[in-house]
Amino acid sequence: MMILVGGEKGGSGKSCLAQNLAVYFASNKKAIVLMVDCDPQRTTSDWIQIRNGDPSLPSINCIQLYGKIRNDLLSLVQHYDYVIVDCGGQDNLALRAAMSVADHVIIPLRPKRRDLKTVPHMEDMLSTCKMVNPKMMASFVITQCPSLPNQAKRILEAKEVCSSYGINVLDAVTYNRNVYDDSEEQGSSVIEIDPTGKAALEMIAIAEELLAMEPDNLHEFN
Ligand SMILES: Nc1ncnc2c1ncn2[C@@H]1O[C@H](COP(=O)(O)OP(=O)(O)OP(=O)(O)O)[C@@H](O)[C@H]1O
Ligand SMILES: [Mg+2]
Repeated sequence: MMILVGGEKGGSGKSCLAQNLAVYFASNKKAIVLMVDCDPQRTTSDWIQIRNGDPSLPSINCIQLYGKIRNDLLSLVQHYDYVIVDCGGQDNLALRAAMSVADHVIIPLRPKRRDLKTVPHMEDMLSTCKMVNPKMMASFVITQCPSLPNQAKRILEAKEVCSSYGINVLDAVTYNRNVYDDSEEQGSSVIEIDPTGKAALEMIAIAEELLAMEPDNLHEFN
């Protein structure tokens, strides 16, 4: 299965989500996982390097690919249970190429206007890629949500913006928690730092919601 964590907005939590999903599948599901880092800033490659230098953490494979990566991804996916692609807006070609072959495209967005402004363009890109990859399941996930109860409306409004463009939005969200940043710095994941903590439960909920999705349940693009 190929999961693309993508989107154009910087800092929305793509690398963080890709890394935590990779750990969840590798550790909790005992799957063979490959991470593909398409970001020239090498955020995920750096994280993997720290991780694979720590013998207490199970190692995860990672490669860097840029540009026209469709055929590379198609051949890699045959050798792994999960290929998780971390792809930002800097490499637009790689983002489109990965969208044209991924089983799941998951796009993190913060409940902020600047992130939500990217929704129409992402919908446009998704519907183009859906023509060559009709089995693709695309979802937004709202990340770094404020936890104050009086801010809950923002989360609902963000979900409504996504739904209004006819794209699935996950029920599961992530809240703004320091443990995401702290785990990243150590080459670790929130699931390893505190397996029953709130952040771990958020990541598990996202992963399980993805796995439960069926192509038929989703909105048809036309
Ligand atoms: N739910 C969260 N709560 C708090 N901090 C978070 C959360 N998710 C991600 N972060 C932090 O936000 C920062 C940006 O996240 P990340 O690097 O994953 O974003 P990105 O979308 O990959 O950015 P880029 O576009 O630069 O690749 C990181 O320091 C990360 O640890
Ligand atoms: Mg990133």
